[in-house]
Formats: sequence, C-alpha cells, structure tokens
Amino acid sequence: MSVQPARRIAYRVLRAVHADDAYANLLLPPLIAEARLSPADAALATELTYGTLRGRGYYDRVLSLAIDRPLEKLDPEVLDALRLGAHQLLAMRTAPHAAVSESVELVVSAGKGSARGFVNGVLRTLTRSSPDEWRARAVEGLEGDALLAVESSHPEWVIAAIRDALAADGRAAEFDDALRADNEPPAVSLVALPGLATVAEAGEPGAVSPVGARSAGGDPAASPAVASGRVRVQDEGSQLAALALSRARPVVKGERWLDMCAGPGGKAALLAAEAAAGGAVLTANELVPARAGLVRKALAVIDPAPEVIEGDARALGERFPGRFDRILLDAPCTGLGALRRRPEARWRKTPADVVALARLQAELLDAGVAALAPRGILAYVTCSPHVDETRAIVAAALARHPELEALDTPAVLAGIATRDLDLPPGTHAQLWPHRHGTDAMFIQLLRRR
Ligand SMILES: C[S@@+](CC[C@H](N)C(=O)[O-])C[C@H]1O[C@@H](n2cnc3c(N)ncnc32)[C@H](O)[C@@H]1O
Repeated sequence: MSVQPARRIAYRVLRAVHADDAYANLLLPPLIAEARLSPADAALATELTYGTLRGRGYYDRVLSLAIDRPLEKLDPEVLDALRLGAHQLLAMRTAPHAAVSESVELVVSAGKGSARGFVNGVLRTLTRSSPDEWRARAVEGLEGDALLAVESSHPEWVIAAIRDALAADGRAAEFDDALRADNEPPAVSLVALPGLATVAEAGEPGAVSPVGARSAGGDPAASPAVASGRVRVQDEGSQLAALALSRARPVVKGERWLDMCAGPGGKAALLAAEAAAGGAVLTANELVPARAGLVRKALAVIDPAPEVIEGDARALGERFPGRFDRILLDAPCTGLGALRRRPEARWRKTPADVVALARLQAELLDAGVAALAPRGILAYVTCSPHVDETRAIVAAALARHPELEALDTPAVLAGIATRDLDLPPGTHAQLWPHRHGTDAMFIQLLRRR
C-alpha cells in the first residue's frame, strides 16, 4: 500500500525537523511544489505538519499513557509516525483505519518494519477512546503550569514567559487567549511594497498595516505580483515594525538607513521601498552568507538595489561611527512571538538560549547606538515577547547610554496602523496574535539626543 502524498511529505518534514534541525516553514513549501500537490492536498500536508508540531507536547503526553516505556527509548522514526497518527486521531477527522495503516506504512518506509505491530497496537489503543476521554486522562492529577503545559502544548518555561510579558503590560487576564492563539493557524498576510504594488493588487486589506493585505486564498506564490517580488508574504506586525522606523518622522532626501540583521530580507524590502520613495539610501547587513543571498534576492525588485554587506553587526559601530539616520535592529531572538508560523520553535529553544541571546541583543544594540547619527532613530525589534529580550534589553541600554531617549512608539504606530491598536501606556509596543492578529512583535523606537 502506498502512503498518501500529503502524509508522506508531512512525515518527511517532521523527521527533518527532529533529526536535522530543519525549519518546517522553509522545508514544507518546496516539498509541496516538487510533489505537485493539489491545493487540497497541500492544505492537508500543512495541517498534518504544523498541527503535529504544535501539538507535540500534548500528543507525547497521550502517547506516554498508551505506551509502557519512556518515549525517549523509542526509535525517533517510530515516535514521529506515532505523533502524526495521534494528531490525525485526536484532532482531525481522519478515518481511523487510514490514520493507523498509513502510520504503519510510514514506519516501514523509514526502515523500521520491525515496529509495524507496535505502531499498529499503540494507534489502535488511541482509537478505543474518544479525543475528549484522552484529554481528560492526559491532564488527570496535573495542576498549575504542568496542567497548562499539557492542555496548551507549550513548554512550562514558555508559558511563564508569556504570562510575565502579558502581566508586564497589564494584560494578565488575556493569558488563556494568548496561549490559544499560538495554536491557531495564521492567515497568510501579504505586503504590497509601496511604490511597486497596491494593496488592492495583493488582496483584501490587512487587519492593521496600511500596506498589508490578506491573501484571497490559494498559493500566494502563484500570483504574478508575488512572483515578481512587488508583493511579499509578510506578517503585518513585521510590517508595522519596519514602518514605525520609516514613518517615525518625514524622510529627508539623502538620509542613510541601516538594517543591521537583515536576513532573509522581509523588513529590508519594505524599508528599501520606503527609502526609495523618500530619497533615502538603505544598507542591509547580514551575518550568514546564505541569508545575505536571500536579502539580495528580496531587494532585487528595488531600483537601484540597496547595498548588502556581510558580517557581524556588532562590528558596525566601529566601522560606521555616527553614520546612519535610521537603523533597524531586528535582533536574533527566541522567536516565541511567532509560534504560529514556526511551530517547532517552542520545543527547540531553551531558557539558556534566552540568556545567550540577551547578551547578543545588548551587544548589537550598543553597536547600533554607536552607528547612529545625532538625532538618528533606531528601532529595536524582536519577534519575541520575552521580557528578557525586550523591555529588559531596552531599559539596560537606556541606562548605559545617557545619549539615548525612548520615543513614544505607540504614538508613532497610532499614526500608521489602520485601526486602534489599544496599546497600554509605555514607550514600547508589544503586539500579540490574540489582540492584533499579528506575530507578537516588540517594537521600541530610540533616538540619539
Ligand atoms: C530576526 S532575524 C531578522 C529578520 C529580518 N529582519 C526580516 O524581516 O526578514 C535575525 C537575523 O540576524 C542574523 N544574525 C544573527 N547574529 C547576527 C550578528 N551577530 N550580526 C548580524 N546578523 C546576525 C540572523 O542570521 C538572522 O538572519
């Protein structure tokens, strides 16, 4: 029996994510294109892959109740097939015989034929109780964050980080909504690059960004405007982050702009379009050469294409002291604000990553401040709401740099967004999937006095 192509592809992505640290959002689209899946099968492959990765914590808990040995003792090929089967049986309306028999086939195709009977037995056990019964059993005896971790399929430390970030903004009551939103598939958002495309050309108007659009459905890459690079797939929170910098004040012809950490180039493309319209010149920097290549590709649609340089942005302060009028520091971060789009991130990152990233973020910010011209503006941005990567980094930078002042970012965004963002008092803006339909972007505008 051959495995349905959507399941085969989903299994391949799961294996690559867990064995090779691959990114599902980068690997899945080319596999779908290569297999020439129909739109329905492409949607199925996406649901199977993302749903299984998001729900991994919950499915592992259920599987551990159905298996009498620790999951770590299972062959990883077997465990991933069981997770994929569990997602179909517990969260999708897949016919049980298809979910079970195709999971068995996947294990056989992965060279683990000896586990055929085991996989069949475990998944048949799952079919003998309803999803609600499994849910009740999975949380039995658990309380506090351990209970939430299973129910919401988030690691406990991520739950604590989200709770802290909401509480710091006086939004503690929205905690359940925030966890739930992480598990809901996001709509595909597009950006119409100013001067190159219109929102109407891209689709329906977006939720918050004046240059944002909602895809009318189907594969966005099939649209000529997307294929040409004039319209791009981009979260609307990311759009607001770039626009907060480019529209913080009117652009003066000849201004110099810098994107310190530009790969893969989403915000750089929007900034470059804004710079071109105002007569400013953008330079984009990226550490990883392959990602710098993606930035060049993203910027190719801009005429003349901005310069892309490669290197550690921590050296840019010394290389270009006081040179730039506007700087975007979209810092490397845990990505905890984009869990809807990068479903595996919650299982891959650890609290130790936060410590290492916070050190890097502070050093990058120091370099950015050094490269800032007098009265220049720097946007510090992360796609993480973790307070150690966001407000703590900004507060420490303000303490280290008396020459720096925090601008009222919510006020700037109020003049840009297409609807009231209802941001709490403070100089930063923390966006949320459950409130704004965007990734949980953090944006703080800083100005050199
Ligand atoms: C959050 S991503 C930037 C996303 C990008 N602004 C966009 O909108 O497409 C951070 C980027 O910083 C790069 N990076 C990490 N460490 C760096 C460093 N020390 N100097 C420069 N870039 C760095 C990463 O390779 C990654 O491409």
